[in-house]
Amino acid sequence: MSGVGGDWKASDENLGFAQAVLDATAASGDHYRHGLGMIASENIVSPMVQQVITSDLHGRYAEGLPGKRYYQGCDDFDTIEALGIDLAQRVFNCRYANIQSTSGTVSNIGALKALAKPGDKITAVSTADGGHISHARMGAVGLRGLDLTTYPWDVDRMEPDVDAACAMIREVEPTLALVGQSVFLFPTPLQEMADAAHEVGASVMYDGAHVLGLIAGGQFQDPLREGADVMTGSSHKTFPGPQGGFVLSNSDDGKFQRKLNTAIFPGVCSSYHLHHVAGKVVAFAEFLEYGEAYAKAIVENARAFGSAMAAEGFDVLAEGRGYTASHQILTRHGEHDSGAGAKAAQLLEDAGIITNMNMLPGDTKAMTPSGLRLGVQELTRVGMDVTQMEEVARLYARVLIHNEDPAAVKNDVRALKDEFLIIRYCFNESGVSGYPL
Ligand SMILES: Cc1ncc(COP(=O)(O)O)c(C=O)c1O
Repeated sequence: MSGVGGDWKASDENLGFAQAVLDATAASGDHYRHGLGMIASENIVSPMVQQVITSDLHGRYAEGLPGKRYYQGCDDFDTIEALGIDLAQRVFNCRYANIQSTSGTVSNIGALKALAKPGDKITAVSTADGGHISHARMGAVGLRGLDLTTYPWDVDRMEPDVDAACAMIREVEPTLALVGQSVFLFPTPLQEMADAAHEVGASVMYDGAHVLGLIAGGQFQDPLREGADVMTGSSHKTFPGPQGGFVLSNSDDGKFQRKLNTAIFPGVCSSYHLHHVAGKVVAFAEFLEYGEAYAKAIVENARAFGSAMAAEGFDVLAEGRGYTASHQILTRHGEHDSGAGAKAAQLLEDAGIITNMNMLPGDTKAMTPSGLRLGVQELTRVGMDVTQMEEVARLYARVLIHNEDPAAVKNDVRALKDEFLIIRYCFNESGVSGYPL
């Protein structure tokens, strides 16, 4: 091991720190390679995306926009970002796209900066009903100093109570009506809410972090044509790109577009992680080719998984609506605030199934909720279909209903997953070696 201009010997201790990271990284990869990743906000990236996110771009800067930079050396990246903006507009069928933000949360902070000022009123879904922390006082909404009122919620339909929410918007007269959730089973009744918001002069922001891939694939709702002035989201959930975010709009108003751009840079980003921008652009190209089929398969699998879980004896929410219209389903595992969701998640992890506990209607404590939120987008990405959804539901039942030893079930989880190691819906499907290490 050598240092600059010499052959200094690295200390075993410091080398050990780095080695520990490499080992844990490999172990984490193995965990997912041989287990079932079912966290609704996660996904895996394609081999080509993997290639660009580990490229030299990782260490570069390009503040500004294509052709208008503060640094030299950006010509090639300009080509990438300009292409990306064009492809984003095609994928999301919109007139404006900013692909720079480094996460869904950063997109939201930027959009809140552009659309409201400190002290303004905002309406949003409460975190107890599935809204994201960035929609709350503890997150971006609080950071921007906004005065929050949350929508009445329809527990049976698992969406804002549309009449009461519209009445509330008309009464509160917010500057900004924010919609969209982290627990997102069904499309938002957006047209009605957007009409109410526009009537009182409010802008409408749709947070599609979870469902962007389903929207782009034409399988959920079409927010930019149903009244949303701005749509934000993550680039790595049902949209299967590298971690990052988007800000999208159908407005052709140059002043409004510039306001959104400057809210992202210089507003909330300096370096905006060029390797991930390049990864998003590759993901757009792949999505144009395979996205619709992928989104269709996700929703079909989620509905099949909901039915299969109910057939195994689980309490799956929203039975009356077919359990879901997205990539997620929700299951209840005990009394409100009992911590049953956490216990279930741990037993599943012991069996090689990775999920997260989640608050359900009636829960009041985020750390001891009664439920699980399960997503099928990652299993779909490796080619599983409704047949495997039934198999997966049986594995859940063996652990959580028939109380089998999770270690024994883990062998069968591995046997199932090892048949699905090829990443699908992308260019150069490349087998086991294409799976992230
Ligand atoms: C509705 C919603 N918005 C924003 C985010 C934040 O996204 P990110 O993790 O990319 O910051 C999430 C994350 O899950 C989310 O569910």
